[in-house]
Amino acid sequence: MAKILVTGGNGYIGSHTVVALQACGHRVVIADNLCNSKTYVKERIARISGSAPGFYQIDLADLRQVQQLAEQEGGFDGIIHFAAHLFVEESVAKPLKYYSNNLKATMHLLEVFANDGQPINMVFSSSCTVYGNPDKLPISENEPIKEAVSPYGNTKVIGEQILRDHAVASGQCRVVALRYFNPTGAHESGLLGEDPIGHHTHLVPIITEVARGKRPVLKVFGADYPTRDGTCVRDYIHVCDLARAHVLALDYLAQGRNEHPFEAINIGSGTGQTVLEMVDAYQKATGLSIPYELAPRRPGDAGAVYADIRLANATLGWEPKFSLSDMLLSTYQWEKSLS
Ligand code: UFG
Repeated sequence: MAKILVTGGNGYIGSHTVVALQACGHRVVIADNLCNSKTYVKERIARISGSAPGFYQIDLADLRQVQQLAEQEGGFDGIIHFAAHLFVEESVAKPLKYYSNNLKATMHLLEVFANDGQPINMVFSSSCTVYGNPDKLPISENEPIKEAVSPYGNTKVIGEQILRDHAVASGQCRVVALRYFNPTGAHESGLLGEDPIGHHTHLVPIITEVARGKRPVLKVFGADYPTRDGTCVRDYIHVCDLARAHVLALDYLAQGRNEHPFEAINIGSGTGQTVLEMVDAYQKATGLSIPYELAPRRPGDAGAVYADIRLANATLGWEPKFSLSDMLLSTYQWEKSLS
């Protein structure tokens, strides 16, 4: 049993990961400022797991608050670092908000928990956004990192660089950056799922709102991409598969199986679906009809993005277990439970 700090553990991917860690017997402490998650989440985590994680409502961008966390909790065996602002469009309008919050949080965690030769294992929440519009598909971890199209994406690129440089220099800090493709779906208990403060921006919850009559129509952003049907291809991955990858990544580091102090690993399904294929799959999975209309491209969208997931399998022994239909049905059921 290890003692793990999960930053952003009250959020969508964070909360599912806390449940997965507790199911493996780990002791979890959450640090979250609740800027994009709701207070009911921690009670739901406790209901699913049968035990409540430790919880600190703190701002990691404030060094003093991170130091106080360390004073109260002592050290951790591992850190999973999710906490970050994550809205692409907002990051274009308010880049400083994103650079300041996301980068300071990462630096402060390193300064407080990974400095002066302190040994620490960290898993960093990264994104396929670091590959930009990729030259080769499926995308392997060897593909070049592209100039990010948004400040949000750039905080993931720079975050990885900070962690790599520190891990190499310290010799005691080991980091796995998990590069997620498109997480979706909800926990099988029906108690956890994606519930951001404000409106949904991701495709599957938006399709769900259309299915439930909360939006009149799905706008399909771009039908002139060089793909099977002209719409964008993405790699959708169930949030519980993603959560399990974090637990395995921590085990991997704890057992010293990593070759390098910093490693990046893709987590996706390994296959791509177009937006229209998603609409079709959703209709088949739920029996509901999804009216849609073709709309102009959304600025910054890459045409096709899907993962080569062989490294995750070879290093972590991870592979996805949930199907696309599981992702779509669980999202539908989750949204229905909210209202
Ligand atoms: N889409 C639509 N209509 C919508 C919403 C989305 O057609 O109403 C399309 C998008 O154009 C895209 C696909 O559905 O082709 C998926 O869009 P999402 O917004 O769900 O996901 P993205 O691939 O844009 O986002 C992912 C991650 C983000 C990350 C981003 C960076 O989920 O966290 O990649 O590129 F920031």
